[in-house]
Amino acid sequence: MIKVEPYYRLHIFCCTNKRPTGHPRGCCADRDAERLRNYMKARIKELGIEGVRINMAGCLDRCELGPTMVVYPDGVWYRAGSPADIDRIIAEHVVAGRLVNDLLLSADQTTLSAAE
Ligand code: FES
Repeated sequence: MIKVEPYYRLHIFCCTNKRPTGHPRGCCADRDAERLRNYMKARIKELGIEGVRINMAGCLDRCELGPTMVVYPDGVWYRAGSPADIDRIIAEHVVAGRLVNDLLLSADQTTLSAAE
């Protein structure tokens, strides 16, 4: 594996992809992804957190699990479905460097649990 110093301490890609209405996979845009991404970007700025970039992304191909995001260089995936989820990811992952276990998407996960 190649290892280099990252340009950003954390680079977070939030899927905001929109699929046609009725698409069987659904899409993050229909689950409020753009508003959540904008909220995350605004909170990072308001909190004065340096070295963290929040980008919109096209489809990350985990549509059924959305709204999805991936945090690099950690390679950690989350489903963040509300502003409260975003607040927790910022406080725990971005600031404290801890995983937010109940929002994690595992590498082999293809469905959400019934509670979600
Ligand atoms: S639409 Fe978000 S992962 Fe595909």
